[in-house]
Amino acid sequence: MKAVEITKDVYWVGAIDWNVRNFHGYTTPRGSTYNAYLIRGDTNVLIDTVKKPFFEQMVSRIRSVIDPKDVGLIVSNHVEMDHSSSLPMAQGLTGAKILASKKGIEGLGFHYDNIVMEAVVDGHELRIGDRTVRFIETPMLHWPDSMFTYLVEDKVLFSMDGFGQHLATTERFDDQVDQDILMFEAAKYYANILLPFGAQVLKTFEKVKGLDINILATSHGIIWRKDLGKIINAYLSWAKGESKEKAVVVYDTMWGSTQIMAEAIADGIASEGVEVRPYRLTNSDRSEVMKEVLDARAVVVGSPTLNNGMFPSVADFVIYMRGLRPKGKIGAAFGSYGWGGGAVKAMRENMEKTGLDMTLEDLEMRYVPKEDEKIKCFEYGRAIGRKIKGS
Ligand code: FEO
Repeated sequence: MKAVEITKDVYWVGAIDWNVRNFHGYTTPRGSTYNAYLIRGDTNVLIDTVKKPFFEQMVSRIRSVIDPKDVGLIVSNHVEMDHSSSLPMAQGLTGAKILASKKGIEGLGFHYDNIVMEAVVDGHELRIGDRTVRFIETPMLHWPDSMFTYLVEDKVLFSMDGFGQHLATTERFDDQVDQDILMFEAAKYYANILLPFGAQVLKTFEKVKGLDINILATSHGIIWRKDLGKIINAYLSWAKGESKEKAVVVYDTMWGSTQIMAEAIADGIASEGVEVRPYRLTNSDRSEVMKEVLDARAVVVGSPTLNNGMFPSVADFVIYMRGLRPKGKIGAAFGSYGWGGGAVKAMRENMEKTGLDMTLEDLEMRYVPKEDEKIKCFEYGRAIGRKIKGS
């Protein structure tokens, strides 16, 4: 397999994973890539590696440029195993020392035995022939160990998970792929991986704003070389928690009652001129729904009561969303029950802990909603719509 030159003597030597469909609980219907890079020079530097089963693919791409044994240094920008699990084999093959942040050394030590590593500090620069490699720590973007590596003269920022997408393609660059798919996958990636770290994203932008960047070489998906402003502006907006007049109504249903409520509520929201996206969790996966939550101003969650609590698929979503901590959004909880409730109370507790604005009253109905109750749901939706519009 061949390397792809991204700028003179800098190569993509990663792996394409066409078949991955679940990335730690996040569905990846379009597969993914694990991007490793090779800088050819007096010392050949490998930036990150690939997921272990793809080690040979990476080596074959390196071999299309140099003898893999001639790699002289390996930089590990991030400990997570989709990028690090080939490190021991890569070091075994090349004998190259691994450079990582101090937290990276600590994290890699928990994963692998007998690898030779050296810590680099924030801002440290390394001269490699006529090139300079600078290390930029980006803690909690999205692990404590995370760092960027900047190739100064070539203006390439190896941005690790930042600006990535789970998108397997034969193309390598942003100007070669469908823009709607690209931005859809970039948004889904942000919503499911980086959403809790908006403050760190903004801090990182402050830190790198003085850098001249021609290429954003991410660790997943395509490399940004043409329209860097597009992804940077999207990240700024997402990190600030900006939203539009849009509601996500996410629910599940046991005997149809909560669905009747959800549909009437969605109608009510739409009647106020607000975009609405209803999702039944039996048919939708949590990571897709979170992508829609990213730019929505309200998340309206509905569940029937099962065994005095939430329906399992709703509990799954509510806990997942709680971990991702979306900021600046309105929340509302509704549901149906038979003889004793519990789901709505449990949703409210979790949604409050998520940090949603839960000032709207909950809406609960017993057994099957009648016509007058459907009207009540519609009016509840209207109230949500008006709150979204701030009227
Ligand atoms: Fe792609 Fe955080 O690993």
